Amino acid sequence: MKILRCRDYEEMSRVAAQSIVEGIKDKADLVLGLATGKTPLGLYRLLVEAYQRGEVDFSRVTTFNLDEYYPLAPTHPRSFRSFMDKHLFSQVNIRRERTHLPNGAALDPAREAERYERAIFAAGGIDLQVLGIGRNGHIGFNEPGTALGSLTQKIQLHPESVAASRADFDSETEVPRYAISMGIRTIMLSRRILLLASGADKAAILARALQGPVGSQVPASVLQLHPDLTVVVDEPAGRVLFSEAQSVWDEVVAAKDL
Ligand code: GLP
Repeated sequence: MKILRCRDYEEMSRVAAQSIVEGIKDKADLVLGLATGKTPLGLYRLLVEAYQRGEVDFSRVTTFNLDEYYPLAPTHPRSFRSFMDKHLFSQVNIRRERTHLPNGAALDPAREAERYERAIFAAGGIDLQVLGIGRNGHIGFNEPGTALGSLTQKIQLHPESVAASRADFDSETEVPRYAISMGIRTIMLSRRILLLASGADKAAILARALQGPVGSQVPASVLQLHPDLTVVVDEPAGRVLFSEAQSVWDEVVAAKDL
């Protein structure tokens, strides 16, 4: 695991954008896994700016998003499809047929999940997966308790996740209670993972995920086992992580002095 410590949200976004731009330069037909939420917004803005400056070409890139609310039509303004169209896809030269999200309007969510999993496989698997982390340690929408070996599936959202989504919808009853999400195994099969974390409200869960025991109660903890994980974290989100690392280091230094 590599941890890149950034001053603030802007620097975290810049480091993440740089890594994706380099990934596309190395492999023009990169298969990119994408996330929604507030965390990657700066990253998407910087990717659009890099495209506008002619520094990156998305014409051969394929994307797979982690998840989509269920049931929710892709055309709904709060769908993750609409989010991605707005913040990234409509502003760069990516081909629409190469952008994939689970279909939140599918009649049979189990079949849709299976179709999605096959589509990832048919594309050759995900080269680089961008992840955020939920306050309860979820990745994608894999809530605490989800089997670590899970593939893409319909998931019931944890009340905390429903509450977190509440502000995006007009009323409580409109917030979807389910999602179709890549599974934990699906995510772990990505060749490289870029985990982004920003803000003090992520500090405790980030430290638990990266330094605590690996288990399904904190789904993000499984990332400790990934062979190519880069964590891009700003100071507020890294507060607990870095202070624990610092005290371990202080102990090592003190022991050496004895
Ligand atoms: C949602 C998404 C996750 C995201 C998480 C954190 O639940 N399904 O992919 O990582 O929220 O969101 P935010 O970045 O807004 O804190």
